[in-house]
Amino acid sequence: MSDQEIPLSRPDITELEEQLVLSVLRSERLSIGPMIEQFESLVAETCGTQFAVGVSSGTTGLHLVLQALGVRPGDEVITTPFSFIASANCILYVGATPVFVDIDPRSLNMDPALVERAITPRTRAILAVETFGNPSMMDQYASIAARHEIPLIEDCCEALGCSLRGRPAGSFGRVGVFGFYPNKQITTGEGGMIVTDDERLADLCRSLRNQGRPTGRADGAVHGSAGSWLRHQRLGYNARMSEIQAALGVAQMKRFGEIVRQRNRVADLYMRRLAGNPDLIMPTIDPDVAMSWFVFVVRLAAGFTMEERDRLIRSMRNHDVGAADYFPCIHLQPFYRERFGFQPGAFPIAESVSQRTIALPFHNRLTEREIDLVAQTLELMLTREGLQRG
Ligand SMILES: Cc1ncc(COP(=O)(O)O)c(C=O)c1O
Repeated sequence: MSDQEIPLSRPDITELEEQLVLSVLRSERLSIGPMIEQFESLVAETCGTQFAVGVSSGTTGLHLVLQALGVRPGDEVITTPFSFIASANCILYVGATPVFVDIDPRSLNMDPALVERAITPRTRAILAVETFGNPSMMDQYASIAARHEIPLIEDCCEALGCSLRGRPAGSFGRVGVFGFYPNKQITTGEGGMIVTDDERLADLCRSLRNQGRPTGRADGAVHGSAGSWLRHQRLGYNARMSEIQAALGVAQMKRFGEIVRQRNRVADLYMRRLAGNPDLIMPTIDPDVAMSWFVFVVRLAAGFTMEERDRLIRSMRNHDVGAADYFPCIHLQPFYRERFGFQPGAFPIAESVSQRTIALPFHNRLTEREIDLVAQTLELMLTREGLQRG
């Protein structure tokens, strides 16, 4: 994913992934087959939902979900400005308006009081992101959504395997969407998964991902029956996940316990190595949260500027250590500013957090020596750039 000596992320592919992908290639069943069904079952089991629908990406999954829930032009969807852009773009795809609310500075998820306050008669859904894989306050958004009789959509693209008081990500919303891009906890190259307990919604998503075709128990069931492959009940998309992608996913899910253990090991090592540094703010993880760790993002202490942060990231990269500014605020992205007229200052907490974040290299196989090297480079760059305050 990167030519950096210590890259920002790295997929964890073993012989098992190779064997399962090869078995699909040899089976000649490259789409709509048994692998996707198996992958769907494994993900549903992990997040405690009845149904799972594999799709071509997290973004596509979110788009299909909004469409399936009937979100339309004129509707408002409450969401966070501090996320990857896809969590707001999906709202624009269906012609609705994203209503951003500021975040809580500890968990970096939406402030529940502001979510409640943002609800209007036009609010059609709350779309909550588990930022950097932290499920904090998901239960609170679920209660707000229930009180107002609107659905909670969980954008859990970054959160497979984490839980809040034992309740797994993906099970809080009426529907949730995972993403499997190569920097995620598990990867299928590209891919995503919609999860829900709502059978009708799952079925509708299955149809939407498959060109609006009618659905059987498995989409493949209708493949052979005369005529039905070319019958289209609604405007659908080709959002299918291939058997090759699903084979990768099955292999990753079979190793999921070990993957989560490794990610926790790496996060613990970073915490121990960097926690005492007065120039840095560590991720805040509440005791009722069990993480599966998407990325490891530290923040420069209050008083550092965005320019200083950017300089630091550049010099880390120049020293062959991956680093990134996860995430610039969505409302300040050029086309959001142009379309909605957002100005800096609109969401002060999200902006102040976003200007000082540094994502550090994070993957399952980082060694203690590499983590030490990342920490040393970060400390050295702080000194060399004349930024050290503590
Ligand atoms: C919060 C969030 N939402 C949506 C997405 C989109 O997922 P994908 O890249 O699979 O389309 C991502 C992926 O990076 C994400 O982090």
